[in-house]
Amino acid sequence: MPTVKIPIYLAPLQGFTDAVFRYAFQKHFGGVNMYFTPFLRVEDGEIRRRELRDIDIARQLGNIENLVPQIMVSDTDEADLLITTLKDLGFNNIDLNFGCPYPMLNRKFKGAGILPHPDKVESVIRCLSKYSDTKFSLKMRLGMTSPDESLALADILNGFPFEHITIHPRTAKQNYSGEINEEAFAALSSVLKHNIVYNGDILDTQRIDYLLKTYPTLHAVMIGRGLISNPFLALEYLNVEIASSLRREKFLNFHTTLLTTYLQYSEGGQSQVLDKMKTFWEYFLPALPHRLRKQILKSRNLSEYEGFVSIAVREI
Ligand SMILES: Cc1cc2nc3c(=O)[nH]c(=O)nc-3n(C[C@H](O)[C@H](O)[C@H](O)COP(=O)(O)O)c2cc1C
Repeated sequence: MPTVKIPIYLAPLQGFTDAVFRYAFQKHFGGVNMYFTPFLRVEDGEIRRRELRDIDIARQLGNIENLVPQIMVSDTDEADLLITTLKDLGFNNIDLNFGCPYPMLNRKFKGAGILPHPDKVESVIRCLSKYSDTKFSLKMRLGMTSPDESLALADILNGFPFEHITIHPRTAKQNYSGEINEEAFAALSSVLKHNIVYNGDILDTQRIDYLLKTYPTLHAVMIGRGLISNPFLALEYLNVEIASSLRREKFLNFHTTLLTTYLQYSEGGQSQVLDKMKTFWEYFLPALPHRLRKQILKSRNLSEYEGFVSIAVREI
């Protein structure tokens, strides 16, 4: 088993890893070296308010250290607006999203939708060069439909000094559940000159050990769903011992921070927060029996919800 430990980054998940989640996670678990915001983008000439508010909440919560905002752009006007705004907000690191698989955005050459268009990729990257005092990283998929698309971009990408490139080895067509294409990951990472970050389906520490053994030059791993379903994963990787009774208590404390902080910042009141909390149960406590998860999802108000959550946590 490799003894060298590599950094763990929390993947951005729109609707999940927002400022409140990152704050509660960092407060009760941690073990993560870098956090990325879900993507910010421009709509009708303006940056979406909800996405800027997330950054403002992170600032209010004092949680912007090790935070890298992510942007999704398809042209230089959008890139200029987002980069100058984020620079004004004090960010010197920005992550670029070439991976989102949502067809509505892909049709506008956004996310993975830009990958089959080397001319557009080149013009966005040329725009980044103007901001010599800002560091950029990139998060990408293999392509829209084929890994050939990302391989064809290698020369363009190698011409720009990205801090690192995160590769999620799926095509957009595969969405989030198609089989990981490790062969294509190996091929792409071997032609890129950058630090490479692996992202996708990491659910346990054995997988991280395997990746580091197989790709010894790996710079970091990025984990999303694996850290939401098991928020202890980064600590386990760092060999931090936590007794199982304490794990329950820690999870409940984390859950309480999540809930109370959402209530503090919610613009839509208790029922909106209840809906928001329920969404996390798509991933939380994967070993939970179906009937207990169903109870939580059917709760009609926050006090009922909290009651079912504490029963669920005691029973697992
Ligand atoms: C609901 C959802 C929202 C996501 N939002 C983003 C996003 O805003 N930016 C991004 O780069 N990736 C986003 N992703 C992709 C994740 O960052 C990550 O690449 C993907 O989930 C695979 O990693 P995992 O298996 O560790 O979760 C999202 C994924 C999901 C499931």
